[in-house]
Amino acid sequence: MTTNVFENVPIDKVQSYWDRRPCNIRHSPVQIGTREYFDQVEQRKYFVEDHIPAFANFSQWQGKRVLEIGCGIGTDTINFARAGALVTAVDISGESLRIALKRSEIYGLQDCITFLQGDSEELSSFVPVMPYDLVYSFGCIHHTPHPWRVIDEIKKYMAPDSELRLMVYSKASYKLFWIMKEDGVWDMSKMDELIAKNSEAQTGCPVTYTYTFDEARELLNGFEILDLHKAHIFTWDIEAYKRYEYKKDANWANVGDARLAELEKELGWHMLIRAKLETTTHAKKSTF
Ligand SMILES: C[S@@+](CC[C@H](N)C(=O)[O-])C[C@H]1O[C@@H](n2cnc3c(N)ncnc32)[C@H](O)[C@@H]1O
Repeated sequence: MTTNVFENVPIDKVQSYWDRRPCNIRHSPVQIGTREYFDQVEQRKYFVEDHIPAFANFSQWQGKRVLEIGCGIGTDTINFARAGALVTAVDISGESLRIALKRSEIYGLQDCITFLQGDSEELSSFVPVMPYDLVYSFGCIHHTPHPWRVIDEIKKYMAPDSELRLMVYSKASYKLFWIMKEDGVWDMSKMDELIAKNSEAQTGCPVTYTYTFDEARELLNGFEILDLHKAHIFTWDIEAYKRYEYKKDANWANVGDARLAELEKELGWHMLIRAKLETTTHAKKSTF
């Protein structure tokens, strides 16, 4: 069962954390807001998180409606729009949205994307309720104090054929071992606070939930899970990575691709979920 350890964190703290340093903002050293900057951000993101394009499968959503929750500076948002989707993209961070909007203008995609600022726990208070073909949320809802509220909101935007693609952090991961080793703390009762402190590029994230497979299934009550698996171990030397150089961390230098893929299934940091509403959930919704 998920422990709701972050449920008393004020949402303002979450917003100001992401405003201070939007996710992936340092993915390129060149001037923020230029085309070169955005090209480099995308290149780096899909290089180190190379499971994303296959998970999102952008081209599948051509001509479809996509609702993205927690778009950050918009790397995936742009790729949905580029593939021909009509996108509504939401984030609580005004600073992230400002950059994402600029990005859409640079690529001439602004007419395909509606950016809206707000707390996804209250999605229906600022995003008109209508069915979307895809509700997509990559790495967002584990950063909000009440992720289960977001899941309840998402249901309002789903028809029987709609799909949810969701990434939440997984609990048993190489990342957890790495964090515990770095901090020298192996007290498993401190796991949640240790992870939150170290989960992002900027230390001290106010909220970072993680999930076991069972907890993810519990979170997605009312959904039929189509696929659920772990992916992504960060295997790069961090100091070199900060210099925009890619050298394998010594712990991974002698691990081949096939072995890495096996380990990612067990110890990956990203839990990737594809789901649809259960038929009964949809029937219940339509009786309102
Ligand atoms: C780790 S970033 C991921 C951004 C983007 N999906 C990506 O993969 O680059 C998490 C994002 O979730 C947003 N976020 C956190 N809590 C939120 C909430 N309650 N409502 C809307 N957005 C939220 C943050 O502002 C941040 O941009």
